[in-house]
Amino acid sequence: MTLNLLLNRKSIRAFEKRPIEANVRAKILEATLRAPTAGNMMLYSILDITDQSIKEKLVKTCDNQPFIARAPMVWIFLADYQRWYDYFIHSGVDEICAEREIKMRKPEEGDLFLACSDTLIAAQNAVIAAESFGLGSCYIGDIMENYEIHKELFNLPSYVFPIGMLVFGYPTQQQKDRQMTSRFDEKFIVFKNEYQRLGGDDFNEMFAEREKSLPQGKAMRGITNYGQHMFLRKFDSKFSREMSRSVREMVKAWVG
Ligand SMILES: Cc1cc2nc3c(=O)[nH]c(=O)nc-3n(C[C@H](O)[C@H](O)[C@H](O)COP(=O)(O)O)c2cc1C
Repeated sequence: MTLNLLLNRKSIRAFEKRPIEANVRAKILEATLRAPTAGNMMLYSILDITDQSIKEKLVKTCDNQPFIARAPMVWIFLADYQRWYDYFIHSGVDEICAEREIKMRKPEEGDLFLACSDTLIAAQNAVIAAESFGLGSCYIGDIMENYEIHKELFNLPSYVFPIGMLVFGYPTQQQKDRQMTSRFDEKFIVFKNEYQRLGGDDFNEMFAEREKSLPQGKAMRGITNYGQHMFLRKFDSKFSREMSRSVREMVKAWVG
């Protein structure tokens, strides 16, 4: 049952108008909050976006993806060290630091990555729990863009960063019927004991299937293969550059 669910899951980007029942939402949340977290610290928060005007704003700030506003449930997953840092201060850790003659440290890079780990693991619990109720979902990575706008919009302090967003809803028939996406062969992904750097022949084999999905003719505009296509569409795209800029600003605020 669980395995079937994992093996058949796909991202859903069009939803029925049907709202998500309160008891279903509550169960998804319960399953989300049961996710394992480092030291059981739960280094994340969730923003449940119920205000339609905020959903509309997210369409724009997350690389113009209109289906965000049509999703009945939108959750933003925040990597959050602010709560614990404030709690440490509230607990008088400055006194023990002074006693031990150590400088009170602030959340740093390691804390950020740990908080991001907690947050995304919880998000995936939400995906799977939702799936078990027949609900579809889609991650929106673009929530990492426009840090300054989201910081103001959601009143985020320095040690809180939106690392992921999920939109949920009951899938339309067209989405249910849509073919699943492929995955790379496991031999290119799973290595025994040490990392294997891939080369020319590996790439030719690894991408052979995806190469076939490329548009043909004029639409290619001088692009001759899948690597060039993905470089321009993803790695060197406007959204990707904005994401890097935005994350750099967040890291400055977080680490100083
Ligand atoms: C971190 C992350 C960010 C993503 N961001 C977006 C997004 O902004 N918009 C979107 O339509 N899909 C997004 N997706 C969904 C992927 O495009 C999708 O998972 C991938 O193409 C594989 O398809 P599948 O989930 O249907 O198997 C994201 C997925 C992940 C894991």
